[in-house]
Amino acid sequence: MQEAGVNLVSLGIFSWSRLQPGPNEFDFEWLDRVMHLLNEGGIKVDLATATASPPPWLTHQHPEMLPTLADGARLWPGARQHYCPSSPVYREAARSLVERLSARYKDHPALVMWHVGNEYGCHVAACYCDVSAIDFRTWLRARYGSLEELNRAWGTDFWSQRYSDWEEILPPRQAPTWPNPGQCLDFLRFSSDALLACYEIERTVLSRVTPGIPITTNFMRFFKPLDYWKWAVQEDIVSDDVYQDPSEPEASSLESAMAGDLMRSLGQGRPWILLEQTTSRVNWRPVNVPKRPGQMRLWSFQAVAHGADGVMFFQWRQSRSGAEKFHSAMVPHGPVESWPAWREVVQLGAELGRLDALCGSRVPAEVAIVFDWESWWALEQPSKPSANVRALEQARAYYEHLYRANISADFAHPEADLKAYKLVLVPNLYLVSDAAAAGLAAYVSGGGRLVMSYFSGIVDPADQIRLGGYPAPFVELLGLRVEDFAPLAVGETIPVRFEAGQVATGQIWSELIRPAGAEVLARFEAGPLKGEPAVLRHTFGSGVAHYIGTTLDSIAMGALLEQARMEAGVTSVAALPPGVEAVRRQGDSGSFLFLLNHQDAEVEVEAAPGLDALTGERIEGGRLRLPAYGVAIIKEDLAEGQ
Ligand code: GAL
Repeated sequence: MQEAGVNLVSLGIFSWSRLQPGPNEFDFEWLDRVMHLLNEGGIKVDLATATASPPPWLTHQHPEMLPTLADGARLWPGARQHYCPSSPVYREAARSLVERLSARYKDHPALVMWHVGNEYGCHVAACYCDVSAIDFRTWLRARYGSLEELNRAWGTDFWSQRYSDWEEILPPRQAPTWPNPGQCLDFLRFSSDALLACYEIERTVLSRVTPGIPITTNFMRFFKPLDYWKWAVQEDIVSDDVYQDPSEPEASSLESAMAGDLMRSLGQGRPWILLEQTTSRVNWRPVNVPKRPGQMRLWSFQAVAHGADGVMFFQWRQSRSGAEKFHSAMVPHGPVESWPAWREVVQLGAELGRLDALCGSRVPAEVAIVFDWESWWALEQPSKPSANVRALEQARAYYEHLYRANISADFAHPEADLKAYKLVLVPNLYLVSDAAAAGLAAYVSGGGRLVMSYFSGIVDPADQIRLGGYPAPFVELLGLRVEDFAPLAVGETIPVRFEAGQVATGQIWSELIRPAGAEVLARFEAGPLKGEPAVLRHTFGSGVAHYIGTTLDSIAMGALLEQARMEAGVTSVAALPPGVEAVRRQGDSGSFLFLLNHQDAEVEVEAAPGLDALTGERIEGGRLRLPAYGVAIIKEDLAEGQ
């Protein structure tokens, strides 16, 4: 570990059955020994609470704590995460283990962070059992107060679903056809909250016993079942697990950039930790392609560029047995010295050790992308005009252009204060609260620039249509009204002609838009909507809002966003050849420019003068060579007055 520069170890994540072999039996001696060894070696510990995989004796005694699927099937123990999030038995057993663990190690010199659970919801994000039903009702009572309110919110007169007693309410179990959408949406909210309650139970113990030790739980990028906006505020440090697919390097690089920006945004700009990645192969794809030499280092520094202050791995030693024995690790099954990935691990460890000055610095962003879990959940429920409008794809269709142009972006909750941003992008906000709608309008009228796509502002938080003409809460802001939706068939495209003459294509969606003050920038060129507006621009107060009524092809979308960002005065970190990413972090100890070559070939780039933070050498400006998958971190010379 010392050779690899390891200074922090996540320890004991799946060790419950070892720590507590029976209801009243505990064995901490082995953990004492490991903690001691690490401490002696100068290595700190991110100690896991070990609650992600309940031991066999617990589920044997309490089979009622096992999770149940929507169709009533109960999941058996034998893998991991086999617990119902609402189970009082699970919650109490977890709490009591955490009491013991924290009491034992609270003063241990190696302890510097707590790792609560593990990837909450990764295998079991919701449970439909009777215990969950009771918990769901309690949650609903707190939300609605009365049954009348619940009936109103869920629109239960439709299909004769009116409830006359709380006891009649169930999780949305497998039914003949679509369960009530309000019920489904609330169940998603409840399920995220039920897991959050499990996390909170442990966090409460830890913050009482070790008030100074920061607490994290590892996120999974854009993980749909958990509303990370709600989770992140309960964490001292946001952390994430990223497993790129080396067989799709370009998409992987883009997605990890996007995930990095999300993690930073979830922590309100604070540095986060890349808690899990792997040196080479995973074991859970149908085919597990290894990382190419250099890719692990590149993707590690990419996380740092996007705001991570720590880079960790799953796992230290590749296991000999168990379900993950073909998953790569820092130490392989075979000889370590001859394994190229080990040399890369050692190099990375040494390099990260030289970057202390970077810690605590931030990634300045002038653009925000509005992203919301509740809207994501509601949008992707069945029975919509088109099942092909997907929240993450919509966000990605915007994000990719910023990424390629080296423009840093934050993600923002729809109700966030957006004043600091020069440009706000709303790829899709199907569900919108009154507060969010008012906030977006106030942002634009106060001088902000906004770009919004179709099927936004359609429903309220109860998933009820906002009446008065679509998109009701944005009609004034956008200066238009949508009279009807005309989704496109799979594979169908529609030509879109811009006023300046260029012809683009739209896919997934089209709609009949009536301008009411907005200027038309492009029109549909064929089909029943021929001649009708497709892209519009509206001056609202002292700001400007763009509206896009289809999914434009990538070139047209890029051009539109380029135009919007020029008008908004948004700057790019650097203009570089395709496949080379530039990100800037800034802090008290200076400004650091990351240049990341995602290509399998050497490139030459323009470089500003500064100090190479990895080698300590001076870069005098001019041309800089970046090898395939190469990385440069330049501590930039600041001009007078900067
Ligand atoms: C994560 C998990 C680890 C390990 C890893 C394999 O989901 O937290 O325990 O299973 O994936 O890629």
